[in-house]
Amino acid sequence: MTPAVEIQNLTKDYEVGFLRKRRVRALDGLTLTVGRGEIFGFLGANGAGKTTTLKLLMRLMYPTAGAARILGRDIADARMHSEIGYLPEHPYFYDYLTAREFLQYCAELFGYARAERRARAADLLARVRLEEKSWDKQLRKFSKGMLQRVGLAQALVNDPAVVFLDEPMSGLDPIGRREVRDLIAAQRARGTTVFLCSHILSDIEVLCDRAAILRRGRLAHVGRLEELREVGGARAMELVVSGADAGRLEAALGGIEGARVTATPGGARVEVPTEAQVDEALRAVRAAGARLVAVHPVGNALEELFVSETK
Ligand SMILES: Nc1ncnc2c1ncn2[C@@H]1O[C@H](COP(=O)(O)OP(=O)(O)OP(=O)(O)O)[C@@H](O)[C@H]1O
Ligand SMILES: [Mg+2]
Repeated sequence: MTPAVEIQNLTKDYEVGFLRKRRVRALDGLTLTVGRGEIFGFLGANGAGKTTTLKLLMRLMYPTAGAARILGRDIADARMHSEIGYLPEHPYFYDYLTAREFLQYCAELFGYARAERRARAADLLARVRLEEKSWDKQLRKFSKGMLQRVGLAQALVNDPAVVFLDEPMSGLDPIGRREVRDLIAAQRARGTTVFLCSHILSDIEVLCDRAAILRRGRLAHVGRLEELREVGGARAMELVVSGADAGRLEAALGGIEGARVTATPGGARVEVPTEAQVDEALRAVRAAGARLVAVHPVGNALEELFVSETK
């Protein structure tokens, strides 16, 4: 089967300034392939070129150079666009419509019959967890988080084979973020390919099979999450322990390279430079008569890769 998305040397210059004489290269020779059924993370700091890439793929503007295919068909091919979905970064809605009317209208654009439009609207509003009492309210009365859910529902209205989401968690509270995460994960089970733009690493980490990191318009890295973490370097781990004195702990941990103990009010924190040392550290903690409370990573290798300008 052809890949879900194939991007070849995609480049975009914006013409800016008075008389549009100056050019700014927002995307510089992006080449990338996304397989069918993948949840693909597209990471980059503000201004890296994520939205520009999506707008090019959605054919909302023309590239300066390069080409792309979605589902094996050129992005200029209008037929393909009925098989994909798109959540823009700043969705604009007809805000005098209710949520239900808006979704039925979206379904109408895809040519579904009336009964099917109704069924789809209700199914989607339930799937994005919009409370049923809001379904018949006008969108202009919706909060940012509620609108974001409607936007997501709209992106899925045609059961797309590939869906492009530009910052789908933006404006959502923690519970909303989790619900949207679950919804995206559920798309995987349906076989949908998800192209997920975000600058929030934790969302990408829990959802994506692979990710690309875009830096000032250029592809800095692409790979499976584990590979990206490796490029980012070893990550330090922290063990939170209780019921031991720091002196005994330090003695027990003496043989572990780079281990550090910091006393805390309830016990101590033990930090080791790599994940591979956690087992060893745990044995030492037990030998010192301490009890393990928690183990977690200190910082995040992927985060470092993301913010680093050189790696
Ligand atoms: N219409 C435009 N005219 C001129 N420059 C633009 C235009 N749109 C974007 N840019 C520039 O192109 C670069 C990439 O912008 P883009 O919106 O693609 O980034 P992004 O990765 O989506 O960022 P964010 O995380 O903030 O949404 C930025 O430097 C931006 O200033
Ligand atoms: Mg953007």
